[in-house]
Amino acid sequence: MLRLESLSVRYGPVRAVQDLTLSVGEGQLIALLGPNGAGKSSTIGAITGLVPSTGRILLRGTDISRLPVEDRTLRGIAVSPEGRKVFVNLTVAENLRLGAASRRDAAGVRADIERYLELFPVLGERIDQLAGTLSGGEQQMLAIARAMMSRPRLLLLDEPSLGLAPMIVTRVFDFIGKLKSEGLTVVVVEQNAAQAVRFADAVCILGTGRVTFRGTPADIAGTDVMKLYLGG
Ligand SMILES: Nc1ncnc2c1ncn2[C@@H]1O[C@H](COP(=O)(O)OP(=O)(O)O)[C@@H](O)[C@H]1O
Ligand SMILES: [Mg+2]
Repeated sequence: MLRLESLSVRYGPVRAVQDLTLSVGEGQLIALLGPNGAGKSSTIGAITGLVPSTGRILLRGTDISRLPVEDRTLRGIAVSPEGRKVFVNLTVAENLRLGAASRRDAAGVRADIERYLELFPVLGERIDQLAGTLSGGEQQMLAIARAMMSRPRLLLLDEPSLGLAPMIVTRVFDFIGKLKSEGLTVVVVEQNAAQAVRFADAVCILGTGRVTFRGTPADIAGTDVMKLYLGG
């Protein structure tokens, strides 16, 4: 589904991502872990096209690395950015509809909104409230639901657990697991390793722009990697 080949991101002299090569199979969930500043968000930004990069980004075999952001969206990439950037001055309903801005199937959009309100009933209760009045956990759920409104085939999640209470984090990851079980391909960036590896098929740990570990969740379970890199 997705393959990164020698992906690099630089900000002037800062090498945020260095020669990253990574594959994610159709329907798989890959957890991209690592400490603050490791280059996780830069990798997500390179995939969406918001951050300039070198190297190749193959989506179902096609190099999309020179395509503008909108074209990548149309090809099925959606992102829930770090810091859950919902539109605080728009209502929950308006945020969800914006996520579907590229779609022309009004009935399908309505059906999808119904579906996500069912999955996140708390959003349904607040459908006409401004997103800025939601709690952090609710905003995160809205950010993920909004990303899903474009009916992506590849969902990128940048630190969905950031700033959330542990119980809410579990709910958010249960939801991510559910989306995966429906066939969605997911790249989830996290500092919360324990949650991120729950549904992961593969784990990749970054340290200052380079891969320091890759394997399956089982591979890291018995090693010092968790302790060493993630304090968990
Ligand atoms: N817009 C930017 N301009 C300059 N440096 C940046 C910018 N964004 C990130 N960086 C630097 O790139 C490195 C990787 O950052 P980032 O991708 O945000 O890491 P992570 O998401 O893993 O915390 C860090 O050293 C960070 O300071
Ligand atoms: Mg980040």
